[in-house]
Amino acid sequence: MRRKLVAGNWKMHGSHSANAELLAGISSARPFGCDVAVCVPFPYLSETAVALAGGPVLWGAQDCSAHEQGAYTGEVSVAMLAEFGCRYVIVGHSERRQYHAETDLLVAEKARTALARGVTPIVCVGETLAQRDAGETEAVVKRQLSAVIHALGHCAGEMVVAYEPVWAIGTGKVATPEQAQAVHALLRAQLKAATPNADEMKILYGGSMKPDNAVSLLSQPDIDGGLIGGAALKAADFVAICRAAG
Ligand code: PGA
Repeated sequence: MRRKLVAGNWKMHGSHSANAELLAGISSARPFGCDVAVCVPFPYLSETAVALAGGPVLWGAQDCSAHEQGAYTGEVSVAMLAEFGCRYVIVGHSERRQYHAETDLLVAEKARTALARGVTPIVCVGETLAQRDAGETEAVVKRQLSAVIHALGHCAGEMVVAYEPVWAIGTGKVATPEQAQAVHALLRAQLKAATPNADEMKILYGGSMKPDNAVSLLSQPDIDGGLIGGAALKAADFVAICRAAG
């Protein structure tokens, strides 16, 4: 049985006081029967590391540079994330693809750079509503994942994949468990063709996962956890999803 992972994606939310309360709420709810992580804005990595040090809840970032170092104003390298104890980094979130024009190739480079530094990339793939309506879901997610598989080569089995249908993110419109499972199964099959340990890899679902729909989504055979946006900002909701996962 794959151990599930529930990762919070705080996006551009937080403040010193709100973070302290949220992290304390999550930490005090342990133990969890699944892996738990929070992906926080860069400036809050330090306080998150201090608050969670020595406990079971891991932390990470929401993006990284594809470059090792250098004249890239505003970017943050994976080596820096590693210095702050990041276990995970989200790459290729649809908000990065949409608002920052990140291409499949760039996302793949970021994933490769992260793994090379020992930080596990959570690679997001997902179709827009227009693409789903046009029957392109399979082609889109396969193309997005294939770029990363190609870049990672024999290390492909070490990434975490997150299926996040763009139309379900922050909209309250969740994919049905069957819709999500169907795409997860496709992704698993694609991973199986690329790496011998596809059966051990985690494929998370993200997009309006909440305490009241988490159980039905997480009980699907190929859904190995969640990438949680809105519901990750309230300790009670996030903890409820973690409980649903394990
Ligand atoms: P949501 O966001 O849970 O608010 O839909 C998920 C995500 O964007 O990772």
